[in-house]
Amino acid sequence: MRHLLSARDLDHAAAVHVLDTAEAMAATQARTLKKLPTLRGRTVVNLFFEDSTRTRISFEAAAKRLSADVINFSAKGSSVSKGESLKDTAQTLQAMGVDGVVIRHQASGAPYRLAHSGWIDVPVLNAGDGTHQHPTQALLDAFTLRRHLHAAGAAGSVPAPEGSDLGGASVVIVGDVLHSRVARSNVELLTTLGARVTLVAPPTLLPVGMEAWPCTVRHDLDEAIAVDRPDAIMMLRVQRERMSFAGGGFFPSPPEYHRRYGLDGARLRALPEHAIVMHPGPMNRGLEISAEAADSPRSTIVEQVANGVSVRMAVLYLLLAGDQNEGTGL
Ligand code: NCD
Repeated sequence: MRHLLSARDLDHAAAVHVLDTAEAMAATQARTLKKLPTLRGRTVVNLFFEDSTRTRISFEAAAKRLSADVINFSAKGSSVSKGESLKDTAQTLQAMGVDGVVIRHQASGAPYRLAHSGWIDVPVLNAGDGTHQHPTQALLDAFTLRRHLHAAGAAGSVPAPEGSDLGGASVVIVGDVLHSRVARSNVELLTTLGARVTLVAPPTLLPVGMEAWPCTVRHDLDEAIAVDRPDAIMMLRVQRERMSFAGGGFFPSPPEYHRRYGLDGARLRALPEHAIVMHPGPMNRGLEISAEAADSPRSTIVEQVANGVSVRMAVLYLLLAGDQNEGTGL
């Protein structure tokens, strides 16, 4: 595999291989000296056309811990039309001799275009495109879940056994599925790894054509908690910036949304005792998730951020170091 554009790029063996590699990376991150020489002399560009806090910093930390040089390019505010600016930027990067591009773009499909246009001839990693895909987020979620499945109770996280998957785990993903590349990537990757996924959302926040997705769909969160008995519940951010105006008519009001789809204290207590609470961040506290749930001992939200660095180190290593180290590539 040359690029990572979609969770669909990973079959079961490849996904498990990334998670196992991320465990090896995580072990190095427990040391005082966190830097590995693996990508010394390589240059990675972070090309961010859309806002990001943790994904950009996480990719930067991951590349630096592998000793790569990192160039951060934030395209916010550019007035050039999307296609042209992407092509011009790609050709500039190619001319400067970069070895890998991490791209986040508001247009679904932009990373695919970059990878297959011929404008640039290096591995492309999708760090989130429009409402389409966010494969490294799904990988870090799978990594976090795999660790907890092998620990006793919600508070524990241990390195998962090599070669293990998510066989039989029940995952409930709740909220703004319509605008969520995190939900799309997770449905694909988690089911590839053997988990059962249930999506819970109001009908207005579900995309058309869901029948083809390999998951169950419900509109009632309490029913999902009672029937699906989740090992993990993943709350999605209500993406107000992708709704045409505040509230957007997608739901009656924020308090009403919270009442029906928010993870409050009562729902937290209704979860199975070992269940973990996940959120990709950034959170709307009080809307999709209460402070009580976000800050509870079963919340893995901060842990997900830490795991993101290990997972991105693994992906950068597998895609960029492949030709130096025979047999390590995907
Ligand atoms: C997500 C994203 O940007 O797609 N966040 C992230 O990468 N941590 C989810 C979101 O913005 O709600």
